[in-house]
Amino acid sequence: MRKKIIIGNWKMYKTTAEALAFAAAFKKLYKEEAAEAGVCAPFTQLAALKAAFDGTAVRLGAQNAHFEEEGAYTGEISPAMLVEIGVDYTIIGHSERREYFAETDETVNKKLHALFAHHIAPILCVGEKLEQRDAGQACTVVETQLKKDLAGLTAAQAGTLVVAYEPIWAIGTGRTATPEQAEEMCAFIRKTAAGLYGGAAADSLRVQYGGSVKPDNAREIFSKANVDGALVGGASLKPEDLIRIIEAAV
Ligand code: PGA
Repeated sequence: MRKKIIIGNWKMYKTTAEALAFAAAFKKLYKEEAAEAGVCAPFTQLAALKAAFDGTAVRLGAQNAHFEEEGAYTGEISPAMLVEIGVDYTIIGHSERREYFAETDETVNKKLHALFAHHIAPILCVGEKLEQRDAGQACTVVETQLKKDLAGLTAAQAGTLVVAYEPIWAIGTGRTATPEQAEEMCAFIRKTAAGLYGGAAADSLRVQYGGSVKPDNAREIFSKANVDGALVGGASLKPEDLIRIIEAAV
């Protein structure tokens, strides 16, 4: 049985004071049995959140990392710096980073390897644009992303992955994929992983759905066999909303 994993992606929201207010409310409400859960916060909030979540089961993640160990990369953060803070995960290849910050499958792949080397669990985002879906290319696009992004991983590494299927047309738009569309693509991701890394890895890796997940639509999406949780943007900013989504996984 794969444990469901619900992760908030705060994007560029919240000051540290606001993050700490969230943490104080959230840790009182969160019950670990419901699902593995946490938030991926902006870099500046991570140390404070780590301390705030100390002694709880709430997980913590970053939203990006550089692939080099160190160097002259102004404005970047290395995996070792994140290890020092004690993050559990890092989101990699979010569509906003691919679109606005020139992230490519090649850099995503380097980042995946760098994170594995530092024992930080990557949450790899893949997903198609609306015009690609309308042209019947959703599977091809996602398959190509997976092949390039996962290149060179071991089967053991692949088996521990979290992949977030995030159709770009559903992110922040209020337009959720139907539970059937989410299931179809999450199953396709698992099938692709099986082809690349074998059935055992594909069975144990977790595939999240992401894109306008809300307290009201989460239960139906989580009822699908291949959907192992969600990467939640807008609805993760309020502790009560994120808790309701986590509880929908039970
Ligand atoms: P959304 O964002 O839930 O606000 O659509 C999801 C994401 O970008 O991870």
